[in-house]
Amino acid sequence: MRLTDTSDLWWKTAVFYNLDVKTYLDADDDGVGDLRGLAQRLDHLAELGVTCLWLAPFYPSPQRDNGYDIEDYYGVDARYGTLGDMVEVLRTAHDRGMRVIVDLVVNHTSDRHPWFQAARKSPDSRYRHYYQWRDDVPDDAPESMFPDVEDGVWRYDEVAEQYYRHSFYRHQPDLATDHPEVREEIAKVIGFWLELGVDGFRVDAVPHVIDGESGPEHDFLRSLRGYVSRRRGHATLLGEVNVPYDEQSAFFGDVDGDELTMQFDFVANQRLYLSLARQDAAPLRDALLSRPPIALENQWGNFVRNHDELTLDQLSDDERAEVFDAFAPDEGQRIHDRGITRRLPPMLDDDPRRIRMVYSLIFSLPGAPVLYYGEEIGMGEDPRIQGSRAAVRTPMQWTDADDAGFSHAKPEDLVAPIVAGGFAPQHINVAQQRHDPESFLRFVQQLVRTYRGAPEIGWGDLAILDQPHPSVLAHSVTSELGVLVAAHNFAPDGRAFRVEVEGADADWRVVSLLGEDPAPVALEDGGFDVELGGYGHRWWRVIRPGERRIA
Ligand code: NOJ
Repeated sequence: MRLTDTSDLWWKTAVFYNLDVKTYLDADDDGVGDLRGLAQRLDHLAELGVTCLWLAPFYPSPQRDNGYDIEDYYGVDARYGTLGDMVEVLRTAHDRGMRVIVDLVVNHTSDRHPWFQAARKSPDSRYRHYYQWRDDVPDDAPESMFPDVEDGVWRYDEVAEQYYRHSFYRHQPDLATDHPEVREEIAKVIGFWLELGVDGFRVDAVPHVIDGESGPEHDFLRSLRGYVSRRRGHATLLGEVNVPYDEQSAFFGDVDGDELTMQFDFVANQRLYLSLARQDAAPLRDALLSRPPIALENQWGNFVRNHDELTLDQLSDDERAEVFDAFAPDEGQRIHDRGITRRLPPMLDDDPRRIRMVYSLIFSLPGAPVLYYGEEIGMGEDPRIQGSRAAVRTPMQWTDADDAGFSHAKPEDLVAPIVAGGFAPQHINVAQQRHDPESFLRFVQQLVRTYRGAPEIGWGDLAILDQPHPSVLAHSVTSELGVLVAAHNFAPDGRAFRVEVEGADADWRVVSLLGEDPAPVALEDGGFDVELGGYGHRWWRVIRPGERRIA
């Protein structure tokens, strides 16, 4: 298949943006962000260059896990609006050239879901087998995902007079996803949202979905993908699969690539933070070198931060301690003994060079970048919120007003507090950065534009380039669409070196695409000289003879 035939694989070169409706913009001033508010801000996202929104769960929910505890798969929480408002968001996003994916949370429901309520009341209920029940707790029961909150994954239910399984919080009973009727229900949910116009799903907690006590194996993912493709050919499935690289291949469907279309790259994310802590590119470089190959239609989702804790669970205890010491020195900045509750800019002491370097690097790696709302303006966490993921789930900061331009409700009625301290809206907000050509917002906008103009990043193959400095990651991404070369410096002082470009000839050219002082570059004897400032970042395009690329 030629690449030109595969332009419908839009996720290969997409720029994703994740937001939670309730913290984005509150149009009716009740203190809770809503779909009408989001609709008003779609132009901000289009202007930024986002090509796909990922909406965090907006379904009716008791909100005991930020909406990941769903009470009704077919609705919109009344606080956010109606299904009609959702259709307006979908239509407007599509009109602006943006696709929309939504969370598919089928590992568990809320315990308030009518299925669970019916299931617990009678062993004869048709919903009983929608969940996983036992008379006793098995000896080999795994640890809870929240070990500091839950002492196991089996909980006795007085009404059911049996134990039910819950991989996460006790109020989130695990569905029996290998049961044909549960699969039917999941298919109907998917079919409903596809019909309404969504372009795919971010699939929650995938390894748990297929590996519960009665979990099905990969055939479930394969059938899910087949079903989604039949219903809407070009919908994507972006999976949350935080496992070692060698286990990730199976979730793509190995060589056939017929399971998840995309997976977040949790390994590179965790190694990135180790590299930052050590000012040494090696941890990230070694991770990238061991990334498993993926099929043509599959893709990695590269990210700096997400809505959960910044998990470091795949680092060794010593490595995790290094990252904690560097970026989360206070106990209150940590959670579950494995993660950090902070955003990047405060962790890097708001050093603009270093922060830009990190985003430039993430956008330059083979894959599709995934932004978390607020990253485009360098938002920080709320330092008053200790030991909780809520620290990074604060309202979007639109203006320098005390309410961040988010809502005119009374402060005590806000769904989440506005960030206080050095990263408060008075210092960090969209309105001010829109008008400042040097702002972080403008930088991210340029980064997005440059990424979108370099489809080789999404389609190409990675090579790590030799150079003598441990603090530097120099790499190229090559496809038939072109060659991108990038260099990033994890250290505070500058570095000079030469990079060789494989196959380069006298008639090849190099042009600067991004980075400090994009001076002209001369390609000589198959390579070129690079000067990289402290925490510097640079991108170049190598233009081969006959290529009609504009730099
Ligand atoms: C993964 C989600 O990202 C997280 O926020 C949630 O707590 C768990 N799934 C459980 O639903």
